[in-house]
Amino acid sequence: MKIRTNFSLQTLNSFNVPVITAEICFPSTLQELAEITAEKAASSYILGEGTNSLFCQESAPTIIKPSLMGIEITESDKNFKVKVACGQNWHEFVLFCINKGIFGLENLALIPGSVGAAPVQNIGAYGIEVSNFIDYVSWFDFAEQKQINFSNEECRFGYRESIFKQALNGKGIITHVNFKFAKAWQPENRYHGLNDLPTPITPQAIMSKVIQLRQAKLPEPKELPNAGSFFKNPIVTEAVFKPLHHQYPTMPYYLQENGAIKLAAGWLIEQSGLKGYRQRGVGVHENQALVLINYESKQGENIVALSVYIQEKVMAKFNIKLVPEVRFIGVNGELSSSDTGSES
Ligand code: EPU
Repeated sequence: MKIRTNFSLQTLNSFNVPVITAEICFPSTLQELAEITAEKAASSYILGEGTNSLFCQESAPTIIKPSLMGIEITESDKNFKVKVACGQNWHEFVLFCINKGIFGLENLALIPGSVGAAPVQNIGAYGIEVSNFIDYVSWFDFAEQKQINFSNEECRFGYRESIFKQALNGKGIITHVNFKFAKAWQPENRYHGLNDLPTPITPQAIMSKVIQLRQAKLPEPKELPNAGSFFKNPIVTEAVFKPLHHQYPTMPYYLQENGAIKLAAGWLIEQSGLKGYRQRGVGVHENQALVLINYESKQGENIVALSVYIQEKVMAKFNIKLVPEVRFIGVNGELSSSDTGSES
C-alpha cells in the first residue's frame, strides 16, 4: 500500500490549511484495506477529497485516503445499476453517467468531493439527495476485516446525515456505492431557477443550469478556499417558526414532510449583518453567507473562531442554533462540536 510520512495536507483540503500528518496511507484494493488494523483506524481520520473537513489544530492525525477506482454498469429492462468505487471524483462520475444516458444525478453536478464521501453526509442540492438513487453501500469493516453491504434503509439517511457519520464513524470505509437509476427518467426541476427551463426538459439542460447556478453563487475553492455550506440549514418546530415568521415575514423557509420547518442558514447569517464580514484572514463570503472563506490564514482555528462568532450572532438575534456541516479535525482525530466551542 502506498504510504507517505510527514506529508502536507495543504492540497488535500479545500480550506487550504497547511497542516502536516505524520502518516497518510492510500489503500487502493480490498487487500490493502485489510492491512489496516482496527486500532490504527480508530486513531485515524478517513479523508475523501477534503472538501468538507477542517483541520483546526497544529497537526493532523494519521490519514486514510481510500483510493479504490472503477465503475461497472449493469442493465435490466427498467433500470441501470452502477457500482462505483469510493476514490472516483463525484462530478466526473455525474458527467460519466449523463454521457452514458444514465440520468438522475444531474441536479448534483459540480458538488466537490469523492464518491465514497457522498453517502456519508448524504450530499444534496437543487431538490435531490444522493440517497434518492442509492441501492446499497458496500463497506469494509476494520474489526471484522470483511465487506458488509448496507441497504438504503440501513444507511439511515437524513438531511446531511447517515449511519456512516454516526454509529459507524471511524470503524470502516465505504468501498463502493451501488446506484439504481430508473430508465424512465423524471426531471426534478422545482427549485427556483430550474422551474423555468424550456420544455421538453432534458437532463443535460438541468445539469447546465445547475452548473451555472453553482458557479454564480458558490466560490471556486481553488480561488477562494472554502468547503461549500459551512452550517446545516436548521430544522425547527412550528412553535419556534411561527413567531419568527411573524417578525420576519420575508424569511425563506421550506416545509418538511414531518411538519417541521427548514430555515435558510445563509439568510440568518446575512440578516445578522455578517455577509462579507472578515477577521484574522478568514471571512464570510460576499455572495453566499453560508460559505466561509479562508482568504489568507494558515490556521484552521481561525475558521473555527469565525464559525463560533457567527453562531453567537445568529443565536443572539434569532435564538436559533446553527450546527456545522463541516467536520472539525484535531491532532487525534475528529473533534465534537463541544471540543471546539461550537456547541452552544
Ligand atoms: N440566502 C440569503 N443570503 C445568503 C445566502 C442565502 O438570503 O447569503 C437565502 C437565499 O436567497 C434563499 C435561501 O437563503 O432564499 C437558500 O439559499 P440557497 O438556495 O442558495 O441554498 P442554501 O440553503 O444556502 C443549500 C445547500 C447547498 C445546495 C443549495 C441548493 C445546505 C447546508 N446547503 O444551500 O449545498 O447547493 O441548497 O440546493 O443544505 C453544501 O452542502 O455544501 C451546499 C452547497
